[in-house]
Amino acid sequence: MTFVVTEACVRCKYTDCVSVCPVECFHEGPEFLVIDPAACIDCGVCVPECPAEAIFAEEDLPADQVEFVAINARLANEWPLITAARDPLPDADEWANVKDKKHYLFESA
Ligand code: SF4
Ligand code: F3S
Repeated sequence: MTFVVTEACVRCKYTDCVSVCPVECFHEGPEFLVIDPAACIDCGVCVPECPAEAIFAEEDLPADQVEFVAINARLANEWPLITAARDPLPDADEWANVKDKKHYLFESA
């Protein structure tokens, strides 16, 4: 099992999740964060910290977000580690309520 960052993070990247993770799980791309499934210890503390409610246990993923299991695993190997919170993307609060935004991730991934 692992925890998975889903579409709601795209173009927000609040990074509150990074500041609470007890191990080094998160990897950062231009518009999204992912969790390395090999590093995640399934503690769940990142879930309530995300203002966009983007993080789910793999087993609890909504059906339309299941593809993010593979996306997290792939991009965790491509993107650098992030170990400290930083400012969200400038338009994060506007993008937090946008539902259909995963195509922006694929443009930059
Ligand atoms: Fe880190 Fe725990 Fe979240 Fe996994 S579930 S990414 S170990 S805070
Ligand atoms: Fe993304 Fe939420 Fe973390 S928006 S960067 S998963 S706090």
